[in-house]
Amino acid sequence: MKVEQLIEDARKTILRAKENLSWTGDERDQARQFLELALGRAPRANEEVPAPAQRRFHRLVERRASGEPVPYILGWTEFRDLRLKIGPGAFVPRATSEFLAEQAIRRLRRRARPLAVDLATGIGPIPLSIAHALPGAEVHGTDISAAPLRQARANARALGLNVQFHLGSLFDPLPASLRGRVDTVTIHPPYVAAHEVDELPSELKNYEPAESLTDKSKDGTYLARIVAEQGHDWLRPGGWLLIEVGSYLARAMKRLMTKAGYTDVKSTEGPLGYTRVIVGRSTQA
Ligand SMILES: C[S@@+](CC[C@H](N)C(=O)[O-])C[C@H]1O[C@@H](n2cnc3c(N)ncnc32)[C@H](O)[C@@H]1O
Repeated sequence: MKVEQLIEDARKTILRAKENLSWTGDERDQARQFLELALGRAPRANEEVPAPAQRRFHRLVERRASGEPVPYILGWTEFRDLRLKIGPGAFVPRATSEFLAEQAIRRLRRRARPLAVDLATGIGPIPLSIAHALPGAEVHGTDISAAPLRQARANARALGLNVQFHLGSLFDPLPASLRGRVDTVTIHPPYVAAHEVDELPSELKNYEPAESLTDKSKDGTYLARIVAEQGHDWLRPGGWLLIEVGSYLARAMKRLMTKAGYTDVKSTEGPLGYTRVIVGRSTQA
C-alpha cells in the first residue's frame, strides 16, 4: 500500500476512536509521525511502503486508537524548543506548563547567578528549559518517583544541560546548602482531588502514573500547602514561589499562599487557558 492511502486509513481509524481520546491533536499529523517511526525515516510521496514497515505502522496506530498517549508511542515530546524523551511511567509535560517555565525564567534573568528549584519535576521540562535559557543558572529538580527522574537525567545528558535531579519528596532530597538562597521554586503538582480521579479521561488515568495526577487529598491542595509552608526555608528573602494548577483552584491557591505569608500574590492565566500560575514572594529571612 502507498503512503497516502496508509495515512488516510490511519487518520480515519484514529478519528473513529476519538470519543475515547482526550488529546486528539491532528490525526493526519499523528499518522504521518507513526509512519515515519515505522519506516525509520520520513515517508516519500507516492512510495510503496514495505510490508514489515506496514505491520509496524498498524501496530502503532492501534496503540493510539486504544488510547495510548502519542508521546509514549513516539518516545518523545516537545516542550518549548526542546525535544524530550519520554516513556511509560512518567507524566507527559503539557503545553500549558511552558508558561510556568517562562514565568520563572523572566524572574531568574534579573539575577547575576540564578538558583532555581523545580519540585515534582517529572521528566524535567521546567528545569531543563531554565538551564537552556540561562546557561549560568544552578538548577535542581526533585521527584518522588524514580522512573521519571531516570528519564529526566537522560534528557539532561542528551541535551547537554546541567540540571541536578534528586529523588525524594518535595524539598526533602535537596542539599541543605541551598536553604535560604533559592531565587525561584516552581511546582506543577498533582492536583486532582482523590474523588475526581475516576472522572478523568481514560487516556490519562489508564496510562499516566497515579501519583502524577492526584495528591489523594479531598481538594487537591495537600502538596501545594506543604510547599507553601516549607518554601520560606529555601527561598531567599524576595524569592518567588510559582505554582501551576487548574484554573478552578486558582482562588484557593491564592488564599493558601497569602495565608502562608507570601506577598505580591497573584494569579495569571497563560495564553492557552486551562491552568493558572499563582506567584508570591517570600519575605521571611
Ligand atoms: C503533574 S506531574 C508534573 C511533572 C512535571 N513538572 C511536568 O510538568 O511535566 C506531577 C509530578 O509530581 C510527582 N510527585 C508526586 N508526589 C510528589 C512528592 N511528594 N514529591 C515530589 N514529587 C512528587 C509525580 O511523580 C509527577 O512526576
